[in-house]
Amino acid sequence: MKDIIDDSNKLIRSISKEVSLPLSKEDHDLLMDMHAFLVASQDEKLSEKYDLRPGMGLAFPQLGLSKRIIIIVHEYEDGKFDNYVVINPKIVSNSEEIIAAEAGEGCLSVNRDVEGHVPRFARVTVEGYDESGNKIRIRAREELSIAFQHEIDHLNGILFFDRINKKKPFYSENEIRLI
Ligand code: NI
Repeated sequence: MKDIIDDSNKLIRSISKEVSLPLSKEDHDLLMDMHAFLVASQDEKLSEKYDLRPGMGLAFPQLGLSKRIIIIVHEYEDGKFDNYVVINPKIVSNSEEIIAAEAGEGCLSVNRDVEGHVPRFARVTVEGYDESGNKIRIRAREELSIAFQHEIDHLNGILFFDRINKKKPFYSENEIRLI
């Protein structure tokens, strides 16, 4: 797989371009690599063997490519995974309720811990296209909702720590539901 760039590379801040469909073979093959990488990174033995940081998702700009494509590999139950590939994704609706991951967020393009709660919508509906160009719609909640917002942010050059309130990085349970 192409190397993942980190936030010292300016490309991570660029706004990615819409992708025309169907997807090219090159992009398809890259998605297969990204999928294998994300699965391995979430596997205890493989991640140790290859020294991988666990990652739930990746966006094409993290590989230095200006394309609006995201992939998420979500372990929804112990050892059970759902895969999402969305091309030109858009959040078309969101809950009023805001949540945050209690432990904060991490990113394969940020090679350090940045502490703080990242406020996110508890639920989002995402529309976009699959690799063949069929329109898809996904309703995501909780951890998966956070993952979609995190990855879609990458397409707009936004990193998770941009959304941490510098003056008040941590919230109490009374202010935001922490998951
Ligand atoms: Ni990230």
